[in-house]
Amino acid sequence: MAKASTKSAHFTCQSCGATSTKWSGRCESCKEWNTIVEEKPLSDGPKSSKAMGGIRGKHLELTDLATKQAAPTRTTAGVDELDRVLGGGLVAASALLVGGDPGIGKSTLLLQAAARFARNGLKVIYISGEESTNQVQMRAERLGLTESPVLLASESNLRDILTTLDNESPDLVIIDSIQTMWLDTVEAAPGSVSQVRSAAHELTTFAKRNHIAVIMVGHVTKDGQIAGPRVIEHMVDTVLYFEGERGHQFRLLRAVKNRFGPADEIGVFEMTSKGLAEVKNPSALFLADRGKPTPGSVVFAGIEGSRPVLCELQALVAPSPTPNARRSVVGWDGGRLAMILAVLESRCGVPFTGLDVYLNVAGGMRINETGADLAVAAALISAREDAALPSDCVIFGEISLSGALRPVAQTENRLKEAQKLGFTTAICPQQKKRGGDAGLDLKQMTDLPEFVEQIFGARDVSGA
Ligand code: TYD
Ligand code: MG
Repeated sequence: MAKASTKSAHFTCQSCGATSTKWSGRCESCKEWNTIVEEKPLSDGPKSSKAMGGIRGKHLELTDLATKQAAPTRTTAGVDELDRVLGGGLVAASALLVGGDPGIGKSTLLLQAAARFARNGLKVIYISGEESTNQVQMRAERLGLTESPVLLASESNLRDILTTLDNESPDLVIIDSIQTMWLDTVEAAPGSVSQVRSAAHELTTFAKRNHIAVIMVGHVTKDGQIAGPRVIEHMVDTVLYFEGERGHQFRLLRAVKNRFGPADEIGVFEMTSKGLAEVKNPSALFLADRGKPTPGSVVFAGIEGSRPVLCELQALVAPSPTPNARRSVVGWDGGRLAMILAVLESRCGVPFTGLDVYLNVAGGMRINETGADLAVAAALISAREDAALPSDCVIFGEISLSGALRPVAQTENRLKEAQKLGFTTAICPQQKKRGGDAGLDLKQMTDLPEFVEQIFGARDVSGA
């Protein structure tokens, strides 16, 4: 008996989406406890095939889709920060996922985008499963969007939504959020992995067949209570993440996957009382609060997607009161910090043993580039030696385990941006081929020991 029931059963981890044939207290793949729940198989016999009946009978979808993908028609929102992240505008009949923490501003962003696309000629339906149409309307009023012809609906039953879409034939539908949607053919609670996955699957298939673009909102939570949108990332053409720190006004829209444009592209917005405003010059924003030169503070000339972004790295190094010294990082990779500390210690004789190390990227920015290595090393030594670097200097470059400095991509773009913002010096790795210096005084170095000696040379860095 028990065997028969487990055979048809299907256990899914609500945190990572891993499936197994038997229940266990802890998920093998993500190691979370109590996240495994029994769920009905997705292809559940006649029930679901009956439900698909309404959109059967087209035989050439694949051919249609192929020809349309070859020459995607795009609609721009007229908001550069958004259009760039989309790869140059919204592609007709594409499926997008916009993920982010609750309350970060996803609904605000998409309502504003919906209004822009509607003004530019698309028929847009905004479906909220979280707010009533009244609430959405009130928000639209506050954002000054009431003139835009967006159709609103408050619904979470996907069957009803698909019927409506069939009748209305819009160009774009926005689903806010995919976690609130539910299908009557799936016997699991809304927000569970099976519901989210099936709902996303039905929506994207339907939208592609009917040539409708669909944007789905997905909340990401760390505690695994709500199924993460990660389980549907592979189903969509484009995955955008909307990020930002709560205490800060600005928000980053980042393309982590894009079938129709470059990934890693970012758009920068600022949350104001009238909704999200574009930030055309993010470097100026990230460096706005910089005061006089302080030890531990370094300006890193970075690249996000295709655009240069300058931001400030701050380090603090202090004697540790405990035997286990702390390493705390905000906005950068902790593993990478450990590596830089090890290289500094073994190749340059700058030990950090017994010292607490704090590293922070100012303004709530998150850096994913290894090109920040040298700037991090500079901030760490500057903090340790209590020696400020000149305030008109930018730093970038990758550090290898041998202590050698490796050139990074788009050096000229970084230099140009630094020059535009009034910097006069740049410390960077030796370039193999000669490029322009954008009018900056370049200090090119080959390895980390040389950097330490040249910049902090006058000091006895090894004498702790
Ligand atoms: P919201 O778009 O509802 O977030 P999400 O859909 O990602 O959960 O945004 C919520 C936050 O944005 C809320 O804390 C208030 C703030 N906000 C503004 O600061 N200005 C505005 O004009 C709007 C509409 C929201
Ligand atoms: Mg919302």
